[in-house]
Amino acid sequence: MKKKNRNLALITGAGGLIGSESARFFFGKGFRVLGVDNDMRRAYFGREASVAGNIKLLEDELEGYRHFGFDLRDTGKLNDLLEEYAGEIAIIIHAAAQPSHDWAAADPLTDFAVNASSTLNLLETARKFVPGTVFIYTSTNKVYGDTPNSLPLRETESRWEIESSHRFFEKGVDESMSIDQSLHSLFGASKVSADILVQEYGRYYGMKTACFRCGCITGPRHAAAELHGFLSYLVKCALSGRRYTVIGYKGKQVRDNLLAEDLVSMFWHFFQKPRSGAVYNAGGGRKTSCSVMEAIRICEKVTGRKVDFTYSDRSRKGDHIWWISDTGKFEKDYPGWKTESGVEDIVRRIYAGLKGMK
Ligand SMILES: NC(=O)c1ccc[n+]([C@@H]2O[C@H](COP(=O)([O-])OP(=O)(O)OC[C@H]3O[C@@H](n4cnc5c(N)ncnc54)[C@H](O)[C@@H]3O)[C@@H](O)[C@H]2O)c1
Repeated sequence: MKKKNRNLALITGAGGLIGSESARFFFGKGFRVLGVDNDMRRAYFGREASVAGNIKLLEDELEGYRHFGFDLRDTGKLNDLLEEYAGEIAIIIHAAAQPSHDWAAADPLTDFAVNASSTLNLLETARKFVPGTVFIYTSTNKVYGDTPNSLPLRETESRWEIESSHRFFEKGVDESMSIDQSLHSLFGASKVSADILVQEYGRYYGMKTACFRCGCITGPRHAAAELHGFLSYLVKCALSGRRYTVIGYKGKQVRDNLLAEDLVSMFWHFFQKPRSGAVYNAGGGRKTSCSVMEAIRICEKVTGRKVDFTYSDRSRKGDHIWWISDTGKFEKDYPGWKTESGVEDIVRRIYAGLKGMK
């Protein structure tokens, strides 16, 4: 029997921000791409969060792209797909998920089935048919629960900031932080479960798996909604005049931001020199960090429009007050990777992209 070429990238959540960016990137590197996405983002967050347009673009623009609109919870369909392409799959990027804390709290069973059980199912099916594949999981900094909130933080005029003498001040939080014994939110708990499973399939079975614990990943292709995709949703609000709600901590909570393309470039580096059970924080670092109030000012500067916002003083349970990702471990393992954009560049990219899509 003729040996098939192993040049297939299987991407779950292909219509989403990270999935669609991955599809384009790996297509550009000469891979054929298979995408799985049932547009459940629309069910989570409503019509404006639908990824149907993104999926259509992939079908129109990437030659040979094949889309599968089944629900990842469907074990039979997943089994058939991996069996069919077993000899060809070189990499699996697992980016399908229910991504919101608030949504998870309202329906923990669905959240866990999508985020945790589906990940186990995908890992086990991969082990059965493509044990040698590289398996990348888009995890989250929420696996650290609310532990970052017990860092020594102080309030400044526009943001919360960590004490300048702390070892996390310059570069942010590294992977040594415990993921245990903290408040995660139901979303955080389902993501921790998947994160541990992905590590275990690497450590126990020797598969080439990696968890990328993302901070805020963003870009113009995010089908941003109030409950997920803060920076692009903010730019959307500035452009449409829609009112934005700042939730808790006086709007001074800090996040770092990374363009989806820079995250996918991390995946590429990992693919070329994979390890087993790797764990990396993934974010843009201090130069891309901003509080919500700072982000509003930057959006106003970039778009030339006032952001209409209101304030709700009930912060989200378990929400991080201050988070900056230290990517030093990844950079040490993969010295070729770097990200140069600052937060204003990122907002400009989102703005240009959203204007172009109008
Ligand atoms: N974007 C961020 O800021 C960020 C930060 C940390 C972690 N992450 C993680 O990265 C991953 C991808 O994030 P994103 O921003 O691209 O999210 P996204 O919502 O844009 O993409 C996820 C995609 O998965 C699809 N999907 C959801 N449930 C499905 C199911 N049951 N079957 C098939 N498809 C399904 C959705 O329709 C959506 O298109 C998620 O796991 C998320 O938790 C994202």
